[in-house]
Amino acid sequence: MKTRITELFHIKHPIIQGGMHYVGFAELAAAVSNAGGLGIITGLTQKTPGDLAREIERCQKMTAKPFGVNLTFLPTVTSPDYPGYIRAIIAGGVKIVETAGRNPEPYLPALQDAGVKVIHKCTSVRHALKAEKIGCDAASVDGFECGGHPGEDDIPNMILLPRAAEELKIPFVASGGMADARSLVASLALGAEGINMGTRFIATQEAPVHEKVKQAIIAASELDTRLVMRPLRNTERVLNNAAVMKLMAKEAALGQNIKFEDILEEVVGVYPKVMMDGEVDAGVWSCGMVAGLIHDIPTCKELIERIMSGAESLIRDRLGGILAF
Ligand SMILES: Cc1cc2nc3c(=O)[nH]c(=O)nc-3n(C[C@H](O)[C@H](O)[C@H](O)COP(=O)(O)O)c2cc1C
Repeated sequence: MKTRITELFHIKHPIIQGGMHYVGFAELAAAVSNAGGLGIITGLTQKTPGDLAREIERCQKMTAKPFGVNLTFLPTVTSPDYPGYIRAIIAGGVKIVETAGRNPEPYLPALQDAGVKVIHKCTSVRHALKAEKIGCDAASVDGFECGGHPGEDDIPNMILLPRAAEELKIPFVASGGMADARSLVASLALGAEGINMGTRFIATQEAPVHEKVKQAIIAASELDTRLVMRPLRNTERVLNNAAVMKLMAKEAALGQNIKFEDILEEVVGVYPKVMMDGEVDAGVWSCGMVAGLIHDIPTCKELIERIMSGAESLIRDRLGGILAF
């Protein structure tokens, strides 16, 4: 399958693994890229630019295929050393960056001068248009279903993707709620040129996270995520657990007066405990509604091949058959 996304990133299949905190290590990125998709290392999971440089090197030892690095621009007071991370990306020879969070404009010249292609992940058409205007090469359009931060507009992909197709000239992938061949074919029909998956890739053999995390995703249904931190305008879709219920009780009690300091216990330092130690109730962690469609733990190669062969038969047999009827 050839799309503007496979051409842009020199990959075989139009399937991207989105950056994920404490999940997107070299093992997963390399496995996805080796399977013909685009694997992405999560930049900020590496504590320093030096650590990121070493993670990039590790990934290069595991794959000769293209892979990317995610840079998430956080709404924090003390900013991470983004210029340092960008230097590590460029010096490491990485040619693809997935940006997310805030507007990546200040960092684009350095990346573009080094020949790095930028795909910006955003949750609205206006942000995707802005990404196009400032010179991003592609967009990852993240619908309301998505695990992580869906923004504040609450537009699901059935509407968001065709709206993006109406407005954008740069290619875009569909992100949020993607799990299988049906997701890919539907996304192509809605105007996207591929898919970006987060939650689905956590439940794979190579995802370097605790087995309990994978089992929690398999056990979850589409009804088991919650939106937290909306009063802070930092909405996050997470898997429901005891800590989420505690946080939501605080939100109900404090209303619009809630401050970040009120929920530190549920949100700070949670990811290493959940992902590495398997303490799945330790705090709030991102997970998409798509958990309801995840029932197994394949290798990345099995997953990607299943999606691609399933998509081909959906297009040729099911859709072609309907036309021929
Ligand atoms: C556990 C987890 C951690 C995530 N961490 C990040 C992150 O650090 N930066 C980022 O840009 N997106 C992050 N995301 C979002 C994913 O890259 C992707 O956009 C999202 O998962 C797509 O929705 P899906 O889970 O329905 O596939 C995370 C998602 C999950 C599930």
